[in-house]
Amino acid sequence: MTMSNLAYDPDLPAAESSQQDVAAMQALRPIPRISIQAFCETEGVANPIERAGEDRRMAKAHLKVHMGGIATAIEFYQSAPTPNLIVLESRAEPQALISQLGELSEYCDPSSKVVVIGHYNDVGLYRELIRSGISEYVIAPISMVDIVSVISSIFVDPDAEPIGRSIAFVGAKGGVGSSTIAHNVAWAMSSLFKSEVVVADLDLAFGTANINFDQDPAQGIAEAVFSPERIDEVYLDRLLAQCAENLSLLAAPSTLDRVYDFDPEAFTQIIDTAQRSAPMLVLDVPHIWSGWSKNTLIKADEIVITATPELANLRNTKNMVDMLKRLRPNDPPPKLVLNQAGVPKRPEITAQDFAEPLGITPIAVIPFDALLFGNAANNGRMLGEMDAKNPTVAIINEIAHVLTGRGEVKSRKKAGLGGMLGKLMRKK
Ligand SMILES: Nc1ncnc2c1ncn2[C@@H]1O[C@H](COP(=O)(O)OP(=O)(O)O)[C@@H](O)[C@H]1O
Ligand SMILES: [Mg+2]
Repeated sequence: MTMSNLAYDPDLPAAESSQQDVAAMQALRPIPRISIQAFCETEGVANPIERAGEDRRMAKAHLKVHMGGIATAIEFYQSAPTPNLIVLESRAEPQALISQLGELSEYCDPSSKVVVIGHYNDVGLYRELIRSGISEYVIAPISMVDIVSVISSIFVDPDAEPIGRSIAFVGAKGGVGSSTIAHNVAWAMSSLFKSEVVVADLDLAFGTANINFDQDPAQGIAEAVFSPERIDEVYLDRLLAQCAENLSLLAAPSTLDRVYDFDPEAFTQIIDTAQRSAPMLVLDVPHIWSGWSKNTLIKADEIVITATPELANLRNTKNMVDMLKRLRPNDPPPKLVLNQAGVPKRPEITAQDFAEPLGITPIAVIPFDALLFGNAANNGRMLGEMDAKNPTVAIINEIAHVLTGRGEVKSRKKAGLGGMLGKLMRKK
């Protein structure tokens, strides 16, 4: 092939970046696994966003560009979950822009961030938007570098809060189904909300995430805990096994060649890195009480205790809830899932009697279903893949909604006033 042929290659980018742009891009770190949707009114703004999406720094992010501005976004989010970041172009004048954003906020999830690309250079507008929780207001025209930089400043900046929320799942006893529920809820979050989830299996000796997701990765979480000095986003990427479109796994080796006596901080580095790399981190914590397992629970953003309705589970749950409340005085108490309810002929404690001494109501009660759970476990499939219409799958989906602050499935649109944009609404 000659050089002149290359010049006509339709796959080459339309415009080459200037040296200045290249230098600016070089300074930026990769963007984490976030979902981004842009709603543009002009090609002049849509094009640099499209080109940003093709840059290697954006390879892990999921970007979709729609034409049509805020009105299109409002229509779109009446029936679709909002992504981690919404980019909105608007040519509207300041007052109209603010009222359109207020309308959009009704359909926005509290955790979604919003960047506005406007055509008015107006300091008052800028201040008002930032005060209302809009992450950034950028004035058109914009370049590809502007877009990647602004995303980077929100999601990569070392001073920025880690983007990922962590949810630790732990059982009140062994074998109660904590891991199974953790994996299924993680899968539900990734598929329902099209948002990236990382599952970390902290049961290095006996973990079952690899079996449940039908994965056999060569490397996994053991590499990270045994060489914490090597961990960064790039190293983490190599340890992750892709399980589904928006789901990846830090698998346990599930072998006994080594013993796993970790010090209390052993998982800190890997958990912190994972939280900077994806919006949701599900920690499958084994049923043990050690320095590191206690530490991992204390530091998690949310804790879910799974218990079965019998006395030893109640005693253990009570002890765990009391201890965790004491250690996390400024956080809500752990959430409770009652599992394996209604085993034929087994005497059991009712949900109400179980909840009463704990002072917390279970967020879900999952029936015992040997056929459904047994088939899923033996086939390395999720419950939703085995039998999407099964009522137990609806319960799992409900848990996914509750844990991501989306409230109940049915009332979501009414209750879902975006935390950020919601402030705009309240001012009107
Ligand atoms: N609701 C349920 N009905 C029937 N079997 C279940 C249920 N929940 C979990 N199981 C099964 O119980 C076993 C133990 O589950 P697992 O998730 O490994 O428990 P844990 O992590 O608490 O030790 C698995 O075989 C799983 O398929
Ligand atoms: Mg387990």
